[in-house]
Amino acid sequence: MKKKTLVATIFLVLHLNSAFSQSKMNVATIEAGKSKYQISRYIYSHFSEHLGNCIYDGLWVGENSPVPNIKGIRTDVAQALKRIKVPALRWPGGCFADEYHWKDGIGPKNQRPKMINTNWGGVTENNSFGTHEFMELCAQLGCEPYISGNLGSGTVQEMSQWVEYLNSDNESPMTGIRQSNGREKSWGVKFWGVGNESWGCGGRMKPGYYSDKALNYSSFLKNYGDNQLKLIAVGPNGDDYKWTKEVMQEIGNKFWGIALHYYTNHGASATNFKEDEWFKVLKSTLKMEELIANHSAIMDTYDANKRIALVVDEWGTWYNTEPGTNPGFLFQQNSLRDALVAGINLNIFNNHCDRVKMTAIAQIVNVLQSVILTKGEKMVLTPTYYVYDLYKVHQDATMVPTKLECENYIFKGEKIPALNISTSIDNNGKMHISICNLNAVKAVPLTCDLKGFSISSISGQLLTASQINSFNSFENPENLSVKLFSDFTYYKEKINVQLPPHSVVMLEVLGNQTIPDKSIVLKNIARGLNYKLFKGEWTKLPDFNSLNSVKEGIVSGMEIPSEIIGNNFGLEFYGYIKIDKAGMYNFKLTSDDGAKLFIDREEIIDNDGSHAMIEQQGSTLLSKGFHLIRSTYFQHGGGSGYKLSYSSEYIDYQSLSEDLLYHSVN
Ligand code: AHR
Repeated sequence: MKKKTLVATIFLVLHLNSAFSQSKMNVATIEAGKSKYQISRYIYSHFSEHLGNCIYDGLWVGENSPVPNIKGIRTDVAQALKRIKVPALRWPGGCFADEYHWKDGIGPKNQRPKMINTNWGGVTENNSFGTHEFMELCAQLGCEPYISGNLGSGTVQEMSQWVEYLNSDNESPMTGIRQSNGREKSWGVKFWGVGNESWGCGGRMKPGYYSDKALNYSSFLKNYGDNQLKLIAVGPNGDDYKWTKEVMQEIGNKFWGIALHYYTNHGASATNFKEDEWFKVLKSTLKMEELIANHSAIMDTYDANKRIALVVDEWGTWYNTEPGTNPGFLFQQNSLRDALVAGINLNIFNNHCDRVKMTAIAQIVNVLQSVILTKGEKMVLTPTYYVYDLYKVHQDATMVPTKLECENYIFKGEKIPALNISTSIDNNGKMHISICNLNAVKAVPLTCDLKGFSISSISGQLLTASQINSFNSFENPENLSVKLFSDFTYYKEKINVQLPPHSVVMLEVLGNQTIPDKSIVLKNIARGLNYKLFKGEWTKLPDFNSLNSVKEGIVSGMEIPSEIIGNNFGLEFYGYIKIDKAGMYNFKLTSDDGAKLFIDREEIIDNDGSHAMIEQQGSTLLSKGFHLIRSTYFQHGGGSGYKLSYSSEYIDYQSLSEDLLYHSVN
């Protein structure tokens, strides 16, 4: 047989229907046409605390260190972290945050007061890494800072001055000190935690007491210039549903998010384990699904529009510390089991991205489930690092609802689902399917049934190892890494994949999304949208169809006409949007107070309610041509604003330009 014919024959065997018998037990139905929510990149954030060797030696070595560094920050670590696209970094704790006084960490290093790190090993903290060093770290990583303020042992004034120091450009005492410390312009920090674990190390408070205190603090945390703070309240410890209920009820609507902490706790070795402990840890990891579902359900009762984010800003494995290390430093190795823990959790977060908008694994370097370990000049990338590297494609992609029916992984009479999965489509139309096979000993077949996506090609990557407890050590740093994976076949909209035991697989699927044609043929149209103005006092959007407008007209863009000012009015924009290229379109609607967006009569964004300037997102598939567009808005009292922007495969977020918007003329 000629070489060309042989290649063609192999291709046919791989791709023809006859060779394609789907798994009966394990089917993932991937609804490409039903995508709506974006997976916030901030789900992939990290946490750094003044704990053990996380900051000192891990991230920061100082300018005079023999370890290569830029402005004191380790070059090797910074480069590795840039590769996984860290979107935000939480700092300075953890428990440490509620004992941290930020003014001790600014100014000349030799004049900075020392303190005892009472939470973590009782060591002396010399404050040589403080606000400026942290902001430099974030700049080098290209990430957003997320600061945890001290509510436990600080004062309202101290926290409010920290915000002023970081964010104000006015002439003020704090700005003056910042400038004399070498930083002219403000940094514009957005993510701000009001306390940490206030139910525990952060002050042993009851939810009612915390709520009062946090509300009091938050009223002195000001927005400077255009910078809007995203305040994050202390949320529950694991399944403390009472905490969520009370905090949501009391103060939820004053915060951008509420933080959940849940660790996969396991008082045993990080690397010396057999299948029973593999099973236990993965089972306990799956509890995250239940926690998120239950906390979200409680949040829904106070915030049906999912405006308040669930921020899982501490999660990961917590084992016994490595023998011979300071127990207060929480240093642990990181094995293939941790890669599965990361993969499962990130899949869960992706699937709940309508409510979970940010998470931070604990912690970034040298503490608990780290992505990086360091020892002197040496650096090791852990299996967890490789999961973040694989999964970075999900950042800001559109989540694709994925229904999984699969066999169980049964161990000594106990069972858990053998597989775990999430799917997204990125801005370039590429689909990514991340799948974990939890079964320690058995390969598991899976059929992915893609609804509304025809495949043109697939490539795969795999993270696994010969042993379930394999890890990367300083002596053998490349024991585990990502390999190419090709144990799959596909035909039309179906993929059969054979998942190796104890593995994390990422499939990249190229192809075309089936885009339903909802465009309409229009005859007499002109530029601009219709608008109607209504008068009334509302705290939620009324049914404008049942009200009489006080004014009507045409606007060139979707903006509040400049002559409409004051309070207690409603607006409705309606007309057509012209789409030149078919594809997935993402919209961001920011409003104060409530607003909604409908396209082709379908609700794309619900940002309703009486609230400050808040952004909500939504996505939809649009065919080429004209589509119905409608948006409603109301202004109650206080500040006001309405802003709609969009993005697609072809364009970054921008306002809807005038040449896209039309209305009918007779
Ligand atoms: O991550 C270690 C500690 O765990 C954090 O400081 C604290 O918030 C949590 O209890």
